[in-house]
Amino acid sequence: MAASRKLSFYRASILSPWDDKRADYWPDGVIVTQPASKTRPATITDILPYNEACERYVEDFARSNLYEYPDSLIIPGFFDMHFHWVQDDVRLMPKDSLLEWLAKYTFPTEAKYASKSYAKTKARKFFQRLLSVGTIGGACYSSIHDHALDEAFNYAQGDLLIGNVLMTQESPAALAQTPKQALGAALRGMKRYKKRYVLTPRFAIATDPATMARTALEADRRGIFKQTHLSETPAEIDFVLKLYKKMKGFERVKSYTELYHKVGMLGERSLMGHAIHLKPAELKLLKKTNTALVHCPTSNAPLRQRGLGSGLFDYQKVEKQGIRWALGSDIGGGPFLSMLDVMDSFLRQHKKAGRGDATALKALYRATLAGAEILGVDERTGSLAPGKEASFVVLRAPAKRYRSGEAHLRAVLAAVKDRAHFDRCVRATFLAGKQVSA
Ligand code: GUN
Ligand code: FE
Repeated sequence: MAASRKLSFYRASILSPWDDKRADYWPDGVIVTQPASKTRPATITDILPYNEACERYVEDFARSNLYEYPDSLIIPGFFDMHFHWVQDDVRLMPKDSLLEWLAKYTFPTEAKYASKSYAKTKARKFFQRLLSVGTIGGACYSSIHDHALDEAFNYAQGDLLIGNVLMTQESPAALAQTPKQALGAALRGMKRYKKRYVLTPRFAIATDPATMARTALEADRRGIFKQTHLSETPAEIDFVLKLYKKMKGFERVKSYTELYHKVGMLGERSLMGHAIHLKPAELKLLKKTNTALVHCPTSNAPLRQRGLGSGLFDYQKVEKQGIRWALGSDIGGGPFLSMLDVMDSFLRQHKKAGRGDATALKALYRATLAGAEILGVDERTGSLAPGKEASFVVLRAPAKRYRSGEAHLRAVLAAVKDRAHFDRCVRATFLAGKQVSA
């Protein structure tokens, strides 16, 4: 080994998922990383038990960085596949139901981002907090404003797609765009941010079909991702179907999913948020188009759990169809930024619904690698393995030996008594070898 090659060593318990059921677990392990070079970011070169590392790297240990984290569990950084960075201030506001909450709290909050200085200050704080809770990737909604999108890209780190919402109908005056303005904003975003941009018609109520169709075509031509909201509540679905029945060319559309299909919003680079209330024909269409879904359990949870009471996503039906899906916080529908809170809520709600396969490991996979797979970046990130980027989260864990990764992760979640404190579980976040949060 060349003497100049300065390795770093991170010692803790380590857990990394392969899929819903399989994971690597080292009760006392070491992640070995090499620094960035001109051609690649800092990567993992090895993961192994501590006693083996002592033998294999005995000389390196003496002259290298060895970081020891007792009572900690290292996992991959989180991918939050659906959240609104401009809704940080509505997370804990009163919630009754989706459409009322949007009109009463969310739209007025997003309208504040018309101010450039406000958007800048908020972006700087928000994206630093996102790293501090361990989120290093995902897909994010911004407001309609160009400069809010610019500020988000300015401060966001990691594998985050971001898009400005398009709002051309049924929207309050402060946020309403003409179709021409919405198209212009989408084209500017695509040109400026290329594949880091995600086309974001807010949902079929707020974006007219011609705008969705035209911008979706432009996104597809460029290989750009698309995202929107689908079938979150029965009242929303009713509204959509009544609205589109009156529109030329949509008179016969039978479902919300079919409507999105007609305007080109489905596809392999398409992320549909919520997707709770779906008929069998809609699930078939989502599968046929290879569309990915994002399950937001904390946002959809009952009102007493600070959610919008939208319902519970049936992942078993979705998986039976072979549809890809991952987890999201839906900030500010979801009350807390930490994906640990999302995982915990996922576990509680699905266990209560009698789904025996709702394990902590499944929640972990869906909060990390599954998102990276959907975004097509899993070859270099999303889990912990030699050759992948050195991106991981160090979690505080109870001081005890565990027989499995499942038991260990469950103990991490169970140790948090107040949901607001999941944020505090994160000791450190590393992004491509660099510590980005203490
Ligand atoms: N549907 C349309 N816009 C929104 C939003 O901002 N949040 C949620 N949860 N659903 C939506
Ligand atoms: Fe949302």
